[in-house]
Amino acid sequence: MNCVCSEALISPALDWPAVRDLPLRLGILASGNGSNFAAIAQAIDQGQLCAQIQGVIYNNPQARVAQRAAERGLPSVLINHRDFGGRETFDATVAATLRGWDVDWVIMAGWMRCATPVLLDAFPGHILNIHPSLLPSFPGLHAVEQALRAGVTITGCTVHIVTLAVDQGPIIAQAAVPIFGGDTPDTLARRIHTQEHQLYPWAIALAAGRA
Ligand code: GRF
Repeated sequence: MNCVCSEALISPALDWPAVRDLPLRLGILASGNGSNFAAIAQAIDQGQLCAQIQGVIYNNPQARVAQRAAERGLPSVLINHRDFGGRETFDATVAATLRGWDVDWVIMAGWMRCATPVLLDAFPGHILNIHPSLLPSFPGLHAVEQALRAGVTITGCTVHIVTLAVDQGPIIAQAAVPIFGGDTPDTLARRIHTQEHQLYPWAIALAAGRA
């Protein structure tokens, strides 16, 4: 069933994949606000996504996601990339922390770092990211502004498997969001976020069901 309404056009059928016997063990990587983390945690609490969040890693001391994790009683660890000499040593610490939590899926939720082979090889094919555009359109930074500047009338969000090529990994799921005449980066980003919060938990279940 596809859903078309004034706010969004959800392209995938949002039927939840069959419940697994064992919960997925998720490790969350987030740099900022953490609303996608909260949406995933909520989907777990509501019994939609059969998973447990093992912990949250954030790389920015001000990241609101740390507070959100604490409110849910979930462990969070600050691993600040500025404390490392290079991207590989940073990723090695991130990977070791995730391994320590016995994570089987790594969920980038607003993680503003590019993954090196050190992280990718630690969890091959098991790292997901969400991006605020319909990839392959508008990869990289400022995707919402890019879409507005390009004058497209539909944009959206994409969940994909993370690869070395930024925002180019295999697509798991997408949701489309129309762009309205008076849209600003803020109004459009807000509507995209709303779709992200529905799409990401479901896409995690979908990816895990296919793996
Ligand atoms: C989202 O728009 C996501 O697409 C992008 O970063 C943003 C994170 O938002 N990768 P939040 O921190 O989950 O609120």
